[in-house]
Amino acid sequence: MGISFSEQEQQFLLSTNDLLYVFEITKNNYLKHVYFGKKTNDVVAFENTNVGDPWIKQDKEERFSMSGFSNEYGAFGIGDYREVAIKYTRNDGSRNNNLKFKSYKIVSNKTKLNELPSLDGNNELIVTLADKDVEVDLHYSVYEAENIIVRHVAIRNLGEKIILNTVNSFNLDLKGIHDVYSLSGWWGHERQIIKHNVNLSILNIDSKRGLSSHYQNPLLIIADKDTSEDKGLAIGLNLVYSGSFSFKAEHTIYDDFRVVGGINDFDFDYPLEKGKCFETPEVVISYSNDGLNKMSQQFHDVYRHYLINKNFVFKTRPIVANNWETTRFDFTEEKIFNLIDKAKKIGIDTFVLDDGWFGHRDNELSSLGDWYPHKARLPKGLKPIIDKCKQNGLKFGLWIEPEMISEDSDLYKAHPDWALTSPDGIINLHRHQLILNLTKPECFNYIKNIINSLLDNNDISYVKWDCNRYYSEYFADNLKNDEQASLFYRNMVATYKLMDEIVLSHPRILFEGCAAGGARFDPGVFKYFSQSWCSDNSDAYSRQFIQYGTSLSYPLSSFTGHISVCPNKQVGTITPFKTRCNMASLCSTGFEIDLTELTKEQEQLATNFVSRYKKISPLILSGDLYRIFNPFEDKLFAEIVVSKDKNKAFAVIANQKLDRKKNVNLKFKGLREDFNYFIEECNLVKSGMQLMNEGIKIYFKEDYDSYSFTLSKK
Ligand code: GLA
Repeated sequence: MGISFSEQEQQFLLSTNDLLYVFEITKNNYLKHVYFGKKTNDVVAFENTNVGDPWIKQDKEERFSMSGFSNEYGAFGIGDYREVAIKYTRNDGSRNNNLKFKSYKIVSNKTKLNELPSLDGNNELIVTLADKDVEVDLHYSVYEAENIIVRHVAIRNLGEKIILNTVNSFNLDLKGIHDVYSLSGWWGHERQIIKHNVNLSILNIDSKRGLSSHYQNPLLIIADKDTSEDKGLAIGLNLVYSGSFSFKAEHTIYDDFRVVGGINDFDFDYPLEKGKCFETPEVVISYSNDGLNKMSQQFHDVYRHYLINKNFVFKTRPIVANNWETTRFDFTEEKIFNLIDKAKKIGIDTFVLDDGWFGHRDNELSSLGDWYPHKARLPKGLKPIIDKCKQNGLKFGLWIEPEMISEDSDLYKAHPDWALTSPDGIINLHRHQLILNLTKPECFNYIKNIINSLLDNNDISYVKWDCNRYYSEYFADNLKNDEQASLFYRNMVATYKLMDEIVLSHPRILFEGCAAGGARFDPGVFKYFSQSWCSDNSDAYSRQFIQYGTSLSYPLSSFTGHISVCPNKQVGTITPFKTRCNMASLCSTGFEIDLTELTKEQEQLATNFVSRYKKISPLILSGDLYRIFNPFEDKLFAEIVVSKDKNKAFAVIANQKLDRKKNVNLKFKGLREDFNYFIEECNLVKSGMQLMNEGIKIYFKEDYDSYSFTLSKK
């Protein structure tokens, strides 16, 4: 059914396999949210609560009060005291935003956003609201099989200049108290699942840092008290945006539960001139009444089919060896050659040369912006390393950080005004570096050209695109006074444009995203980066939490996890090599360890890992993920990924401390009850029914022990 309009009821109906979403035009021409939930023929509309709050005098309906009204796109200044979706200021300073229904259309192609990444799709409802000469288009696309709705909003100004103070991508009005989950964390521990109970309060999950950040992720989940992986309500809201964002969830005394989300309005004002249009980022809404696993699978499917870089999304990912944790800045050509020799022996596909290959970069202090080979370290440039890779049948990858500049660089000497600084002389350094002002065309073009010629003149098949600092400068000397408070947003838009012109113009190069680990891990970068380094912490124990949290909305192949040394360099944990291999199997993968230092036994395990990964790679690329044990609650990690036809599956179970759990019964999920499966590691055949209902007994022998299971239909 998708999208329809009922003339009789004056209702818009968006429907997927499981979800019904209804809103209607009221008699007084507001757009009222009516229902969002399980498909039913018996929609019970929310009652408007008339609570004795101010009502609109001009309105013909008696005592129509906005404060209890489920406004489909809540606007500021007409008596709504909740968080609102939109607020704008007119030239005279007035801020009554009285948006009423004007028109609608249903089209068969989904709108592509002009300046921001957006999903593909093949239907769209556009409802236009108007307030004098300000028009707001609400866009809705429906992905029926995946139970997904994608929304965004476009604001058009046909009159005198207005200032947009708040422009959220959506608001969603529900009733009752709900749990809300966020993916919160910090460097090295990104995307931990945190549960909040929103009861007569407002929860704000946001980033003010110019990047989506290590601290919060643009994903919010609305759930019920008893929601589990396989049961209960789970509404996932994920913003296709990589800059400062916010989600606010509010529950009121009248039992209204409203969520708004979009670009963070903290220090955000955007002047919209006559005739101009502003588009918000998209929000992807995944609805499940069957728990979190289903919600996640729907996100994964929609991202794989409609958003992630088409050139690579379903392509077997290379297994890489990256030199960062082995050498840091301290490498020679010879050391790299030795790593490449060892990589070949183990069966690795690609060698990635990380930071320190350019300018005179011997440490973090210099050279960002000088994208030409380090003369002392690589006197003959990149060619000998690329040739060495080729001789060994490996491809070559390179690290870059195009959005940044070091004060100690040729680029800064030539163009100090290209860095974002402050007119009062107060400069914030972060990792000793500054951010380039990509809204300046001359700076943008210089970076675009130098990176493009680097990629065109060298045989590079893989690029790790890093971004190692947060924004903190609120001024750009090329912007007008009233444009300053949208600088973060404008530089994000320019960054996407840079990605368009570098990444998309090199369809044969796989780009991996990175931001000091996982500080920019969001759907906004999916259009460019088919995978992103999800944390600098590659400890197999910490990865239980990071990877479990990340999988709530992001598909396994979209995050990278490498095998690294023990004791782990970030947290000092010692985990078995086997467990490091098992955790790194559930993502796009590689090595961050000194391959020349592996013991004979480790080398064998690494070789086995590589050949097994090549076999299970189709599952990582396109399978359905089922989370089984939750490391946050069960003190255990277990996940299984199952092919769409249910013929193949791969599962990992990993322990934490041995004294927490020794013996466990692992019940598989997602298999066909009537299929028999051969489990390679156990040399055993069992039916799907047995595996899912009875499970198999696991005996852990040491701290952080783990097992993997490769299943194929017999
Ligand atoms: C960031 C990345 C690391 C590495 C370094 C290099 O911190 O997350 O993987 O590339 O930069 O400086």
